[in-house]
Amino acid sequence: MNLILLGPPGAGKGTQAKTLQDRYGIAQISTGDMLRAEVKSGSAIGNEARAIMERGDLVPDAIITAMLALRVQKPDCAGGFILDGFPRTVPQAEALDVMLGEMGLALNHVVELQVDDAALVERIAGRFTCASCGTGYHDRFKPTQQAGVCDVCGSHEFIRRADDKAETVAARLDAYHRQTAPLLPYYQAQGKLRHVDGMADMGSVAKQLAAILDAPASIA
Ligand code: AP5
Repeated sequence: MNLILLGPPGAGKGTQAKTLQDRYGIAQISTGDMLRAEVKSGSAIGNEARAIMERGDLVPDAIITAMLALRVQKPDCAGGFILDGFPRTVPQAEALDVMLGEMGLALNHVVELQVDDAALVERIAGRFTCASCGTGYHDRFKPTQQAGVCDVCGSHEFIRRADDKAETVAARLDAYHRQTAPLLPYYQAQGKLRHVDGMADMGSVAKQLAAILDAPASIA
């Protein structure tokens, strides 16, 4: 099963993709995580992407599409994948269609997580991650069980993303509405677009997603 999670920054794509990865045994592909790894490693791609990401703009289509083409050929994608953060522009979606066609693969679902802009700012501002194991948390919606200690690995070190500052979030939302929202009619025209209420709590969103993906006609 190959699917896309679409939605604005902070909609919960990464949160839900991790749940789906465990539930269906398919790979989560987050282009944002891939780019952050490039930035951290100081690679040529990372050096080009760093300033763009910190401004809240999109990295050029050619860079992202080339990265994605290599990633989907990795062995962990053999059973399927969840695209989290890709495509983000119509040219990326068109490149994905070509890529999947050449690989003899189908795109089974495109699911939009619908969340109001006002809620996104609070979600993003409160987000933090364990520096050791990468588990994601939120100050209000998903705090650690013991203050300052990761539930999973016990680390005391946490990080907040450089692009989660209020002024950058506004630019990211603007980029979403201008460049990514046109993907909704693109996939609607392909008959693949479904929607979930991303304003619901995390467990309810996961149930809505499972209902779509587990529907008999959906299994591929
Ligand atoms: P990327 O990393 O993809 O960021 P994003 O799309 O802005 O999405 P986020 O990771 O911010 O949010 P999310 O939807 O995953 O939400 P999460 O689950 O964390 O991209 C970063 C940058 O990289 C881009 O700006 C761009 O520059 C570049 N880039 C990446 N891909 C690109 C591409 N294809 N083309 C060009 N450039 C690209 O949830 C957020 C918080 O809310 C968490 O704390 C979580 O605990 C909480 N939460 C989640 N669900 C709920 C819920 N239902 N109720 C309450 N809280 C919730």
